[in-house]
Amino acid sequence: MRAVVFSRYGDENVLELTRRPVPTPGEGDVLVEVKAAGVNPVDWKHREGAVRSDQPFPLGMGWDVSGVVRATVPGGPAIGAEVYGMLPLPYGGAYQELAVLPSSAVAPKPARLTHAEAAAVPLAALTAWQALEAAGTRAGLRVLVHAGAGGVGHFAVQFARHLGAHVTATVSARNLDFLRRLGVDEPIDRATTGLAAAAPFDIVLDTVGGPVQHASWRLLHRGGTLITLPEPVDEAYRLPGINADRVVVTPDGEALRRIGTLIDSGAVRVEVQAVLPLEEAAEAHRISKEGRVRGKLVLTL
Ligand SMILES: NC(=O)c1ccc[n+]([C@@H]2O[C@H](COP(=O)([O-])OP(=O)(O)OC[C@H]3O[C@@H](n4cnc5c(N)ncnc54)[C@H](OP(=O)(O)O)[C@@H]3O)[C@@H](O)[C@H]2O)c1
Repeated sequence: MRAVVFSRYGDENVLELTRRPVPTPGEGDVLVEVKAAGVNPVDWKHREGAVRSDQPFPLGMGWDVSGVVRATVPGGPAIGAEVYGMLPLPYGGAYQELAVLPSSAVAPKPARLTHAEAAAVPLAALTAWQALEAAGTRAGLRVLVHAGAGGVGHFAVQFARHLGAHVTATVSARNLDFLRRLGVDEPIDRATTGLAAAAPFDIVLDTVGGPVQHASWRLLHRGGTLITLPEPVDEAYRLPGINADRVVVTPDGEALRRIGTLIDSGAVRVEVQAVLPLEEAAEAHRISKEGRVRGKLVLTL
C-alpha cells in the first residue's frame, strides 16, 4: 500500500511517500481503507521527535482517518461501512491506504460529511469534548476558548455553546466573523486588551500554551478551572483557589458517535481550510506549523 512514513526525526523533508506492507489488525482491531486523513499539530511534533513512540523506524504518520471498513471483529462495524476514528497516541498510521484502529475507536461517518470533512473531526473534536467534560462545562458557565478558530478551538466553541455555556473566544481580527458564524457570544481580537474586560471566566481552555497559559490564571474566578492542552500545567504560575489540569486526548468511538449526531443535526459544523493530496503531506505540515490554520487541514488518498 502507499504510505507516508519517516525514518528519522526532522523537518518536513523527512516525510517519504513509499510502499509498505498492509498492517495486520490485532485483537479487537478493524482495518480501514483510508479515504482521507486529518492533519494535526501533533503530527509534525511527532515527526520532529517531540512526541515519540517505542516503535522502530520507519514510523507511520497521523491519527485521524475517515474511510471504509475492510476487516472487522465480532460486534464491530460491518465490512463496507463508512467510519471515522482516531488511532491511539503515540502510534501514528493514518497517512496510508489502510489503517488499523481499535474497533472501539471508530464510529459511523456523519452522513452529511464527505470523507475529507469527516477526517477533520476525530482528534480535534475529541480533544474539545474531553477538555470541556474535564472542566465540568454546563449551562450558564462562562467559558473562554483561546484560539477559537483553530482545529480544537472551533469544535470547543460549538460544543460549549451546545451545552448552554456563555462562550468567549480569542482569534486574530480576520477570524472574528468566523467565530460569530459559529455562535460565539464574545469573539475577541487577540491583539487587543478586550480579554481583560470580558473576564472573569469559570473555565478557560488553553490551546496555545506558554504566555497564554500563564496569563490564563488571572482570567478565572476563584473556583474556576484551567484546562491546558499543548503543555502540562506550569506550576510556577499557579494561583490559589483555581483548579488546573492538562487533558490528553484518547480515542473514543462512543463520543464520536455522539459528535456525529450533533454534526448531522446541523448543531456543529466542520471547517476545512484546505484539502491536499497525500503526496503533499510535507506541505500540509509546513502550513500547520505556521499556526494560522482556520479549522483543519486534510489529506486525501
Ligand atoms: N493535549 C492534547 O491531547 C491535545 C490535543 C489536540 C491538540 N493539542 C495541542 O493544542 C494546540 C492547538 O491544537 P489545534 O489543532 O487547535 O491547532 P491549530 O488548528 O493549528 O491552531 C491554529 C489556530 O491557532 C491560533 N493561534 C495561533 N497562535 C495563537 C496565539 N498566540 N494566541 C491565540 N491563538 C493563536 C490561530 O488563530 P488566529 O490565526 O485567528 O490567530 C489558528 O487559527 C496544539 O499545540 C496541539 O498540539 C493537544
